[in-house]
Amino acid sequence: MKSDGPEIVVLTGAGVSAESGIATFRGTDGLWEGHRIEDVASPEGFDRKPQLVHRFYNLRRAALRTVQPNAAHSALARLEAAWPGAFLLVTQNVDDLHERAGSRRLIHMHGELRNVRCTACSASWPWEEETSTHSRCPSCGDTGTVRPDIVWFGEMPIDMDRIIARLATCAIFISIGTSGQVYPAAGFVDTAARHGARTIEVNLAGTATSKAFHERRTGPATETVPALVDELLNAHHSH
Ligand code: OAD
Repeated sequence: MKSDGPEIVVLTGAGVSAESGIATFRGTDGLWEGHRIEDVASPEGFDRKPQLVHRFYNLRRAALRTVQPNAAHSALARLEAAWPGAFLLVTQNVDDLHERAGSRRLIHMHGELRNVRCTACSASWPWEEETSTHSRCPSCGDTGTVRPDIVWFGEMPIDMDRIIARLATCAIFISIGTSGQVYPAAGFVDTAARHGARTIEVNLAGTATSKAFHERRTGPATETVPALVDELLNAHHSH
């Protein structure tokens, strides 16, 4: 890990991909693409209506082919490449727009649309096509055990130990485009602040956790994120 500059941890949510044309989770109607979140993002919902859940994620996965990273994703990749200290991007998003923009040091804490896994043997593998209740696991050969590799409500987010360790050592914590309603991610600002980090929230509007941040930047991510990245890089270079 590089140690010649302050460490940054960035958390992103659906707002960073909104201007690429991917719907946020909590739209004005409270639905995610026409569905109640608990119907399509919980193990119970999957048990009740597996076909519906497969179809839902098949559509989301296919939609990735029609969208492109935006200026906010690109700015974060630029920050990672130019920043002299340690850097970690933690995303709650299941799309692949951060990596397509060039981000490399990232954790998909809620899983990835372009991965699936087997509930029988726990194998997971990259998958671009559709899945169904008849899909076969290439590892154990079982059928009907393939599911999206997405962290649903009630399930454990990915790599939490690593994330918590980095929140404890970072000097700057930035949260972009997340409503602060889903834990543990919504609590990251408190962890970082308790360990002395400067905390910055970037969002179109106020959120459930706005008060916990030292600073706020309000506006669309495609404008606010490039501006913040410029500011961080300029401030660092002038030291
Ligand atoms: P939400 O849909 O809850 O919140 C999106 C946030 O983005 C809101 O605070 C908006 O104000 C903000 N926003 C929208 N457009 C923006 C823009 N152009 N620029 C900046 N901000 C913008 O999404 P998340 O907070 O990401 O989990 O939701 C967290 C988790 O809830 C998701 O990861 C998902 C869901 O359950 C899983 O699917 C596992």
